[in-house]
Amino acid sequence: MTQSSYRAKLLTFTGDPAQSPDAAVFHEDGVVIVEDGHVAAAGAWTALAGLVSGDASVHDLRDKLIVPGFIDTHIHYPQTDMIASPAPGLLPWLETWTFPTERRFEDEAVAHDTARFFVEELLANGTTTALVYCTVHKQSADALFSASEAKNLRMIAGKVLMDRHCPAFLRDTPQSGYDDSAELIGRWHKRGRQLYALTPRFAPTSTEAQLEACAALAKAHPDIFIQSHAAESREEVNWVSTLFAHRRSYIDVYDHYGLLRPRAVYGHCIWLDDEDRRRMTQTRAVAAHCPTSNLFLGSGLFDFDRASESAMLVTLATDVGGGTSFSMLQTMNEAHKVARMGGHHLSATRMFWLATAGAAEALDLGGMIGTLAPQSEADFVVLDPQATPLLARRTARAQSLEELLFAFAMLGDDRAVYATYAAGKRVHRRGERTKRRNV
Ligand code: GUN
Ligand code: ZN
Repeated sequence: MTQSSYRAKLLTFTGDPAQSPDAAVFHEDGVVIVEDGHVAAAGAWTALAGLVSGDASVHDLRDKLIVPGFIDTHIHYPQTDMIASPAPGLLPWLETWTFPTERRFEDEAVAHDTARFFVEELLANGTTTALVYCTVHKQSADALFSASEAKNLRMIAGKVLMDRHCPAFLRDTPQSGYDDSAELIGRWHKRGRQLYALTPRFAPTSTEAQLEACAALAKAHPDIFIQSHAAESREEVNWVSTLFAHRRSYIDVYDHYGLLRPRAVYGHCIWLDDEDRRRMTQTRAVAAHCPTSNLFLGSGLFDFDRASESAMLVTLATDVGGGTSFSMLQTMNEAHKVARMGGHHLSATRMFWLATAGAAEALDLGGMIGTLAPQSEADFVVLDPQATPLLARRTARAQSLEELLFAFAMLGDDRAVYATYAAGKRVHRRGERTKRRNV
């Protein structure tokens, strides 16, 4: 048995801080003890110092803050190289930038190169788990899972399904989409730390026959994830109401095909009504809020008050490349402002929970990731309150945990990530990343 320990300030959660003020657990002088890729213990140094093996290396990080690894619940790896591409709204953005970019992933070399860079970029931002869209090409999913497996990360990903309303070069068919997805589930779901997500892009790009194929796959594999987009922009919602005129709403399309259930994650969920939220809550489907993307594409403002009232499961996500940052800290920054626009106060403590333990619980992975609880997988981030001169000045004056976390959320990005660990191994250290050439 190998043991390593990390002495630092610690933050972990026992529940939603909005429900219970004691749910955020903070140790000014704490330690995480890692054995064989799992957390053996985490807590106050004074209580746990006796458990640290004499010969185990103690990493002294007392001026840093350790938090569970961030979980990004909606991101597109093929869009890495087209981040920061503007368009007057979602649908023109898809046509102008997204589809031509995703075409490049028919080339395996492009897929492998981009997947490797993407995984490094996630880790540089402290993200240790993500729910990842690949392209329609099945080799794009193989490339992402291979890059994740090489670093022993817990990633969730899937090949996009789309058989209409996209260029012919990106189209699958109900049968080929079904066969490719089934093959990838067999190859990757639960292989090491990899998990599969059935990925119909969004209702407009799937025929009813393809949605029926998804229903069959979802039924045959009750523990896989499902990911799609829902109610992102008004134009898209209007389009769905004409394409599926016999369905009550956009969410009802997914509901009809049995795609609302635990482990089903819908990006955006801006233009929902109360009945949609009620069904999301009842089925334990998850709304992934993507604030940087929603502002960048002008899609709309996620309604935190209504989401809270309905008790719908909510997580945070970057949605790169519609989103403009890989950083979950920057995502918190924009989430706070979107909530503010709706008159809702989103505390930093709650945002850190949403990006860690809250996401893990919403994804039905509670206790496994998103926490520093004993037996959990040792995925964690070392944040540096002195990362920039401004952060150093602001955090030095922080009088509370909330104030410290708020400074990270508003002022932090990849510069604030000193190191990232996955399954107990260091997978990123600030300043040590090698420059690579793009293909
Ligand atoms: N809706 C359908 N596809 C996409 C996509 O790639 N990004 C975003 N933001 N919305 C979508
Ligand atoms: Zn998206």
